[in-house]
Amino acid sequence: MYSAMGALGLAPVPRAVAGDYRPPKRADFTNNRQQAGKKVLILGAGIAGLAAAYELGKAGYDCRILEAKNRVGGRSWTVRNGTTETDLDYRAQTATFAEGDYFNAGPARIPQSHVTLDYCRELGVKLETFVNQNANALIYHENSPALANQAVRWRTAKADVYGYVSELLAKATDQGALNQSLTATDKERLLEFLKDFGDIKGRADNWAYTGSSRRGYSVEPGAGFQTGTVLGPPPSLSDVIASGLGHRFSFELDYQQATAMFQPVGGMDALPKALATAIGSTRIVHGARVTRVMNQTSGVSVTWVNPQNQPTTETADFVIAAIPPMLMARVEHNLGANVTTALRYPQAGAAGKIALEYRNRWWETDQRIYGGVTPTDNDLFTVWYPSHGYQGNRGIVVGYYHAGNAAVTYGALTHADRERRAVTQGVKIHGDKYRTELASSFSVAWHRTPFIEGGWAAWPSQTGPEYQLLNQPAGQVYFAGDWLSHTIAWQHGALTSARKAVTEIHTRVLAG
Ligand code: ALA
Repeated sequence: MYSAMGALGLAPVPRAVAGDYRPPKRADFTNNRQQAGKKVLILGAGIAGLAAAYELGKAGYDCRILEAKNRVGGRSWTVRNGTTETDLDYRAQTATFAEGDYFNAGPARIPQSHVTLDYCRELGVKLETFVNQNANALIYHENSPALANQAVRWRTAKADVYGYVSELLAKATDQGALNQSLTATDKERLLEFLKDFGDIKGRADNWAYTGSSRRGYSVEPGAGFQTGTVLGPPPSLSDVIASGLGHRFSFELDYQQATAMFQPVGGMDALPKALATAIGSTRIVHGARVTRVMNQTSGVSVTWVNPQNQPTTETADFVIAAIPPMLMARVEHNLGANVTTALRYPQAGAAGKIALEYRNRWWETDQRIYGGVTPTDNDLFTVWYPSHGYQGNRGIVVGYYHAGNAAVTYGALTHADRERRAVTQGVKIHGDKYRTELASSFSVAWHRTPFIEGGWAAWPSQTGPEYQLLNQPAGQVYFAGDWLSHTIAWQHGALTSARKAVTEIHTRVLAG
C-alpha cells in the first residue's frame, strides 16, 4: 500500500541504489496466462549465477545452477587451511594456514556504493572495514633513480608531493603568473589554501616547503620534554618529481577505491555461501561442465558432462549463461555465429595473487602498519596487509596482486618459484623478516585456473555491436556476468548484470 501511495505521489519513495531494481515476487503473477514456476537453467555458480537463481527464486522460478567446480563463488574465493586447487598446468596446491587465517584470492574490497553491500545486508553477511589507504603503509619505487630502492611511507611521500606542488603554485601565483585567471582576492585566498594544503612557509619565506611533521618522526613525540624529531630533511623538489611518488595519490580519489571500504568478516566467500544457502544446495549441481546449449522451438536444452564425462541433457524455459565469455564461446550451440564471434571479442586478462602467511605480525609490531596496501613499481604491483586479526599471532600478507605481463610471468612458474621470487622482491621493501618469518604460502594465477581462465575480461570496445548483442537474449538464452557491465572485476558488476537478466526474463514471462 505504501508503494502504491508512492506511485500516486502520496508518500515519499526511497531512491533505489544503482537503478530501480525491483526483485520478482510471487504476487507479480496475477494473470491466468502467466505461469509461475518456469524453469531456468543457470550456467555457473559465480556471483552472477548465484544472484540470478536467488532473485528468480523469490518469485518461485524453478532454478538450477550447473557449476563445473566443486565449490560456489567463482573468483569470489577464500582459501583456508586445507583448500586445494589444481591449475590448468596440473600444479596442485593445498593451503596449510593456521586456524583463522584466510586469503581472499579474488575480490577483497567492497566500495560503499556497490549493491554487494545490499546483498550482504539482506543475507546477514557481517562486514568490517577494509583498509585500502593507510598513511603508514609504504610506496616502493625501485626504478626511480632518486629513491635508490628505499621504501617511503605513504604519509611522507604525500607530505613532500603536496608540499612542493603547493610551493610552486604559491610562487607562481604570488609572482603574477596566474593574473589572467585570478583576481587579487582569488590570489590571496588561494595562497591561504596552499599554505594549509602543502604545510608551506609564508610570503616572508617565499612559500618554501621545508618538510613538516606530516612526514612523520624519526623520534616519536613523548612525555615531558620529548618534542619528537621530525623526519627530515625532505628530498629535493627535483628528486620528488623524479621519484614518481605523486602518481600514487589519485588512488585515494578513485571512485571505486576510495576509503572507506568493506570486507565480509571471515572471508569474501561468506557472500557466495550465503547466496547458495538461500537458493538451496539441491539446486546447485557441482562437477557439471556444460558442453551444448540449443534453443528449441520452445525452451532450450542444455547438455553437461560430469567429471567422468557422462552426459546429461536437460531442458528449461530459459538459460542464463553466467560463465566467462571465452568459455561460453567453446560450448557447442545454435545461437548463431555472430554470438560466438562476440563471445570471443572480450579478452581474458591475466591476474595473480600470492598469500604469504607469517608466524608473527612483524608489519604491525616493527613497522606499525595496520592494514592497507603498499604499491610498488616492480612486478609485485602491490603488497597488502590484513585488515583483520590485528595484534594476533599470525597473519597473511598478500605478497603480490598483479595483472598483465607480471601475472603471466609469475603464472608460468611453479608455486615454489612464485613464492621465492615474491619473497626476494618483498625483502627489498620489508627486510629479512619477510623471508625468515614466512610460515606457508598459497598462490593463484586466475588465467591458469580451470573453468575461470582469466582475472577479468577486457573489451576492445564496450560501445560496439558485440557488447550490444550479448546484452540481449539469444532466443531463450541470456548472458550475465561482471564482463557485461561497466564495473568489470567487481562483484557489483556481476550482481547488477544478474539483476538485468532476471528483470528481462521476468518481464517476458509476465507478458505471457
Ligand atoms: N576490483 C578489483 C580491485 O579492487 C579490480 O583490485
